[in-house]
This record gives sequence, C-alpha cells and structure tokens, in this order.
Amino acid sequence: MNNINGKTKTIGLIGNPVEHTLSPFIHNMLAEKMKLNTVYVPFHVKNGNLKEAISGASALGILGTNVTVPYKVDVMPYIDELQERAKIIDAVNTIKFINGRRYGYNTDADGLLTSCKRAGISLMNKTICILGAGGAARSVAVMCAEEKAKKIIIVNRTVEKAQELKLAILNYFNIEIQVLGYDAIKSQSEVDVCFQTTSIGMYPNSDVTPIDDENFFKGLRWAVDIIYNPSETKFLSLAKASGVSILNGLGMLYFQAVKAYEIWNDIEIPDAILEECLNQFTDYVYSKKR
Ligand code: ATR
Repeated sequence: MNNINGKTKTIGLIGNPVEHTLSPFIHNMLAEKMKLNTVYVPFHVKNGNLKEAISGASALGILGTNVTVPYKVDVMPYIDELQERAKIIDAVNTIKFINGRRYGYNTDADGLLTSCKRAGISLMNKTICILGAGGAARSVAVMCAEEKAKKIIIVNRTVEKAQELKLAILNYFNIEIQVLGYDAIKSQSEVDVCFQTTSIGMYPNSDVTPIDDENFFKGLRWAVDIIYNPSETKFLSLAKASGVSILNGLGMLYFQAVKAYEIWNDIEIPDAILEECLNQFTDYVYSKKR
C-alpha cells in the first residue's frame, strides 16, 4: 500500500456504517501477495447518497466496489448488467465498472460454498435446515438449491417471511422446501447440515442461540454459522458438544472477498496464495491485535 502511484487502481466498499469492515485487510493483502497495483478503501455513503455515490465511483474510474449493509438491494436499480446469480439472490455485493457500465454480482454464495467445500461439507442430496429468512438466508438457500440439495427446511421467527423466501426460491429451482417454526424444528432429527443465518449469538450477545434442543443436534452432521465473531457461537458450541462438526463464517467472508477480487482483476488466485492469505487473515481477526 506504500507503493501507490499514478497507475494504482482503486477499489472501494460502499456501506453505512463501514468503520468495522475487515474487507480492506483482505483485499490489500491479496493485492500485495498477487503483486497487483490496487488499493481498497472504505466509502461511508450516508442515507440518500447511494445513487450519486455509484455515479461518482463510475465517473472517477474506480475499478469496482463491494456493497454492504444497507445497500445490497437498494443498489440494484443502478446496475446496467446483473449476473444471473445476483438476480436470483436479489442482492448485489460486488460492482465492476467497465467503460462506464456497471456490472453487478453477488459473491456471497460462492464464498460460503468454497468455505463449505474446504471443510468437506457436501450439499448434494442432503437435507438442509436454514435458520433465518433474511438476505443471508436467501444466499444460503440459492447455494443449496444450486448444489442440488434434497430438501431445504426454512425456520424463521416470522413464518410469513420464510414462506416468501420459499416462493422466491421455487421461482427459480425445482426443489422440496418446507417452512417450520422454531418449535417444530426441535423434534426434527433428519437434518444433515444446519446453516445459522440470523444475527443471534453475534458479539457482544454471545450467550444466546436460536436453537438449543439436544434432540435437534443429535441427528445433525454439520452446523454452520455465518457469524465469525465470536469464532464459536453458542449455537456452534452446543452442536460441537453433541458431536456435530462445526464451521463458522470467517471462511465465507474471506472467500466472497476473494471471488470479488478475482472478478475485478480478471484473475484466478492460486491455491497456495489463498491458503497463505487465509491463515494471515485468521490470525489478524482472532489474535486480537487489531
Ligand atoms: P440479513 O440480511 O443479515 O439476513 P435480515 O434480512 O434483517 O438480515 O434478517 C435477519 C434474520 O434474523 C431474520 O430471519 C430474522 O427473523 P424475522 O424474519 O422473524 O425478523 C432473524 N432474527 C433476527 N433477530 C432475531 C431474534 N431475536 N429471534 C429470532 N430471529 C431473529
């Protein structure tokens, strides 16, 4: 980053707030390791300024941006060409500017899938439970449908929202989807993989979990939480105590960033560099040296 010069290409993060983002660390590390002349900076875009921010980024010749909360859906009208995956997930987390045109992508499902595959989780023909029915749940559901899961069970506090998600997924995929409330899922013992997609258990509220029923965990093979702080949520520790294999959300965060960096730069990052950077990133996040 000390080598910024006239040829440096800028990449940014559009969000509100952006103060706690880990993305600059990942993207600037990837630039250094790949020896690419890019710099990644946060852009705090206040309410009402999104349209101008996108036009401005395009006019400034910025290579691309990530888009985070609360703009992943709001940004869609300002995109010229939407990747099919982003259309299905109905949210954009990555924009690339080419000759004044805005290309929109969603790399969240890619990130989670890569993280799952590295951990040895396969989704094909599996019964999957998704806790939550918001934006994150939708990415997970699309990933499961694309990977040809046997059945998806969506569990949500507000059952109507789970029904809406079910219909949205059935618009694009032919897959069995069941909607349940938290009470009903407790007695389900035939789930292979459960994805926790709500914010329940996130730091500093680390002592809560959306589900704590032993019966549920007994039948489970994998528990995945998209939360990475704490590294082991209460949901994951209960699962682990029942002998279930666990995976947190750090890999999803890292690999969605990797995919975006590959899109902006038209590259494929070699595995050795990916591993080295993931180790460095994990140390950075969990060593408390930040
Ligand atoms: P994101 O885009 O991160 O998924 P979201 O769209 O706001 O965020 O969705 C949050 C999800 O967490 C929802 O499924 C929400 O449940 P409701 O649809 O019933 O609101 C769930 N959630 C958040 N806090 C919750 C809580 N205290 N108990 C149960 N579910 C909760």
